Amino acid sequence: MTAVSSDAPVVGIDRIDCYTPNHYLDLVDLAHARGEDPNKYLIGIGQSKMAVAALDQDIVAMAANAAEPMLNAEDKANIGLLIVATESGIDQSKASALFVENLLGLDEHLRAIEIKEACYGATAGVQLACDYVRSHPGRKALVIASDIARYGLRTAGEVTQGAGSVAMLISRDPSILVIEPESLYLSRSTGDFWRPNYSTEAFARGKFSEQVYVGMFDELWDEAQGKGMARPEDLQALLFHIPFSKMGRKGLRSLESRIDGPDYERLTQRFESSIVYGKQVGNIYTGSIYLALLSLLENDDTLREGDRIGLFSYGSGSVGELYFGRLQPGYRDRLDPRRHQSALDARQQLTMEQYESMFEGQLATDGSTQTLTQTDPAAPHYLAGIKEHERQYR
Ligand code: CAA
Repeated sequence: MTAVSSDAPVVGIDRIDCYTPNHYLDLVDLAHARGEDPNKYLIGIGQSKMAVAALDQDIVAMAANAAEPMLNAEDKANIGLLIVATESGIDQSKASALFVENLLGLDEHLRAIEIKEACYGATAGVQLACDYVRSHPGRKALVIASDIARYGLRTAGEVTQGAGSVAMLISRDPSILVIEPESLYLSRSTGDFWRPNYSTEAFARGKFSEQVYVGMFDELWDEAQGKGMARPEDLQALLFHIPFSKMGRKGLRSLESRIDGPDYERLTQRFESSIVYGKQVGNIYTGSIYLALLSLLENDDTLREGDRIGLFSYGSGSVGELYFGRLQPGYRDRLDPRRHQSALDARQQLTMEQYESMFEGQLATDGSTQTLTQTDPAAPHYLAGIKEHERQYR
């Protein structure tokens, strides 16, 4: 548990936005093509659509597209730390944050780094950013989670793919969510999910990964109870890492017999609001819990300023963290639900053939020049191609 003095500055999420590619696959089409009952995907997995990224929307372009709409010139000048969290890295050496810094036109007097720990990476980024902002008065931190979830065609994990980014500006006296300095976390080497450097697809021990996820949540929840940090009656919502909505639901259900009925009912009702966006986008790995946060804030009109929210972040491999935040006065003024739902509604539906062909498309790996065309006219940033093994962004 982190010890932070009680007179430490108040810090947290001042702005939050997201980007997801403008193509999707309907999971009923996927079910038919794979010989599955559509209800397995719609109810059993709890997903309806999944975003599919074209080659020009890689994790760098998506990250810049998520952050661009929420930053003003003053923010850009004051960002002292830029973190891109991803498990879909494009380079073994150079941080994707450096490309993003360039695309966003940020002041160069900042630290730009990339963080990896599966789906936990963005939470590591948020917590580091909070520490940075506490110790650097006047500076802000930009944390962007950006991933393309790939398990492979005709694999058990295929239905739990997706793509997208969530950007968060971390500042003092934030407008949306104050993050409490005390949190609980666990790191334990586990073989539930991994992606070796030579593979473009992840490997997962699916059922085992579900057990580890729920087990880590249970451990942290019990520890929080022992320390008096998570009284159910004080929690207005509990967010989960959502690789697919059934997974978060399993985490929440593990509380059913342990907390009072009205508390469980309230948390369940809020959980439904937290999965509205994710069900249409799919797994965005490390950004999934933050897409759930955005979804909750933009789709639940019963939450109130001052409400306390718990967040359970899980990254395979495995790291889990349970932390808490409090909604700030006027937080709704910082959100834009209509823009986000319209962007989802405006996406182009893919046929199975188009999806499989996009999935199999790869950038040149032999040093030859490849030019890409922009597939999302509404996105300010895209990957224009590759030349001498170097990605070229516009
Ligand atoms: N109607 C309704 N429900 C149905 C159904 C039907 N006709 N047919 C099946 N179902 C239900 C099943 O009962 C099951 O429900 P429960 O999980 O509640 O038991 C559910 O649909 C899934 O069915 P299966 O168990 O048969 O599914 P599967 O074996 O094909 O695989 C999976 C499911 C393990 C999640 C697989 O998609 C997978 O491996 N995904 C990737 C791994 C993953 O995401 N793990 C999550 C934890 S790790 C993590 O979170 C990190 C990360 O982001 C990767």
